[in-house]
Amino acid sequence: MKTIIAANWKMHKTRSEAAQTAASVATFLGKNPMQCSVLIFAPFTALGDVAEQTAPNLAFGAQNMYPADHGAYTGEISPDMILDCGCQWVLTGHSERRRIFREDDAFIGKKTAFALRNGLSVMLCIGETLEERRAGQLRAVLSRQLLGGFADPLLNDVQPDRLAVAYEPVWAIGTGVSAKPEDAMEAHGIIREELISRFGSKGQDLPILYGGSVKPENSEELLKLDNVNGLLVGGASLEAESFIRIIRIGSEYAS
Ligand code: PGA
Repeated sequence: MKTIIAANWKMHKTRSEAAQTAASVATFLGKNPMQCSVLIFAPFTALGDVAEQTAPNLAFGAQNMYPADHGAYTGEISPDMILDCGCQWVLTGHSERRRIFREDDAFIGKKTAFALRNGLSVMLCIGETLEERRAGQLRAVLSRQLLGGFADPLLNDVQPDRLAVAYEPVWAIGTGVSAKPEDAMEAHGIIREELISRFGSKGQDLPILYGGSVKPENSEELLKLDNVNGLLVGGASLEAESFIRIIRIGSEYAS
């Protein structure tokens, strides 16, 4: 399975800033063939600009979408609009969407299926809060979010290269404190089991990324772990230089 190194830029960067960072990454990938896939989830306004930057193993995505073709959904954008910008991916279920925008598992499942049905590839984000972890609910939360996100029977036939899961413990996002290797490994192991019980043998081939305070300094210890097939990077992906350092490490862990 190819390691995926993904950037989530959240609500950062103007169009020209985004194009500049994407161009630096594309130039690097053009000159230095890497063994991993690189994905950048950019803000809506910059999707068209970043997608103009092409390089081997580089693709782009949006951080959100609405599950309808078009219509009276003020403030939302459809999968077709994302594809029209030259982007292939979308994130669903990010903890910031769950918490700030009150998205629940049923809605996230609907978005995931709609995006796939309309030609996008999807990275579903899941992860527990500190309270849930302390209450011993790790498996229950991950299983609920995973089965909710992948509830639609349409997913039974989906190609593994169009789907990925990102494990992002809420307490590790933006805090500077990533999960300890043993905690990440436990969660990724649970997710692998749940994926196999949902998808059968195909569940073995779906990439599981770790996210939450990933930096160049901790990338290697995370990528070494069983069932860690990539990284989803927020803060440390905003500067091309630190994101490229993580890409280089990711390339060494491609299988
Ligand atoms: P972080 O964000 O790397 O800044 O912790 C990760 C994410 O929310 O995807």
